[in-house]
Amino acid sequence: MNIVVIGAQWGDEGKGKIVDYLAGDAQIIVRFSGGANAGHTIVLKDEQFALHLVPSGVLYPDKIVILGTGMVIDPEALHAELSMLESRGINWQGRVFISDRAHIVLPKYRQIDKEMEEKRNKPIGTTGRGIGIAYGLKAFRDGIRLADVFEDERLVNLDAEDRAFIAHWKDWLKQFPINLVDYLDKHRHAYVLFEGAQGALLDIDTGTYPFVSSGMSCAAGAAAQGGIGPRSIDKVLGVFKAYTTRVGNGPFPTEFNPENQGALEDYIRKTGREYGVTTGRPRRCGYLDLVALRYACRVNSIDTLVLTHLDVYDTLPSFEACIAYKIDGKLIEHFPSSIYELEHAEPVLRKFKGWECELKGRSSYDELPIEAKDYISFIEEYTETSIDMISIGYERNETIVRKSPWIR
Ligand code: IMP
Ligand code: MG
Repeated sequence: MNIVVIGAQWGDEGKGKIVDYLAGDAQIIVRFSGGANAGHTIVLKDEQFALHLVPSGVLYPDKIVILGTGMVIDPEALHAELSMLESRGINWQGRVFISDRAHIVLPKYRQIDKEMEEKRNKPIGTTGRGIGIAYGLKAFRDGIRLADVFEDERLVNLDAEDRAFIAHWKDWLKQFPINLVDYLDKHRHAYVLFEGAQGALLDIDTGTYPFVSSGMSCAAGAAAQGGIGPRSIDKVLGVFKAYTTRVGNGPFPTEFNPENQGALEDYIRKTGREYGVTTGRPRRCGYLDLVALRYACRVNSIDTLVLTHLDVYDTLPSFEACIAYKIDGKLIEHFPSSIYELEHAEPVLRKFKGWECELKGRSSYDELPIEAKDYISFIEEYTETSIDMISIGYERNETIVRKSPWIR
């Protein structure tokens, strides 16, 4: 069975935690896109792990984790991450593989990434990890795939510095390559999780272009870039937070206004620990944008939503969510493509009553306060999508499952 988990907002929705949770019942976890720009936080018995490249299932001792075809991989960053895991007692040897069609990020890409960003009159706010350069060169047909590392002929166009870099990592990289398509075909009866990076609104095609990342963070990416065909996807899960965050630049219709919502933003940032895992930047915060969420559901065929960070709202007497936009005086109920429209969209907000009590310790949907259930029902009706899982804390067990996605 193949389950795809993607972010349904602008990233940082808690995919890492959800993939880690679901990985308990999976045998293989495939991350299908992005690179070391991503940051997935997983909390395990008071220990916190920040992962950038390695799929979130790695913390279980027996799971196979694979870096998929759509990923762009910086060998130095991968080595650092695996060394960190090893030093903390996570044994990864023999169960981490990389699609031999995945692309390599060379050190100079980071520099070029920063230089290009400085030249932009409206910077994107990239993480500076060379990700956009790797995907750009891939499209130019000038990229280097893992398979190419072992064929000297493929490297002739590189300059001496890049060749030396590859020569340095070549032997270490030999332990990782697999033909992902063949591998998954051989394991066609396994339970496989496909882990996305970033989120639907940061996807190169479906996101708020050009204020997006450069990979496929949409569900379809799991097929092309995860080594299976689209009809082999059994279920798509979209992870979203009770509110919205965004790091980097670009339109964000429900972003809190510092003048009258500054205290609220500070509260949510502090309670939800809304700082970038990769860059440490404070994340921009705002109310849930249901127009954007419904769009993400449609464009990704999301079967079921996973609501995270619901506990961040525990102390609020009331809160709001955006149900439409007002753009130049007109009421708009769809998610626009135009950046002008998104930048000028004033959110039409609906007010919800808070529950004003702690959600921690509750283990079933029935135990949730009525106000939380009302919020959940409203989101389900608005998006026409069920919410089958709810996360109320960082720990694996702080997860309420109404219906396991592994049940067909
Ligand atoms: P890049 O992927 O580093 O080029 O960054 C492009 C945009 O995507 C910037 O706004 C980043 O902040 C954002 N971004 C990239 N990766 C992540 C992520 O994992 N979470 C949230 N935002 C991200
Ligand atoms: Mg993140």
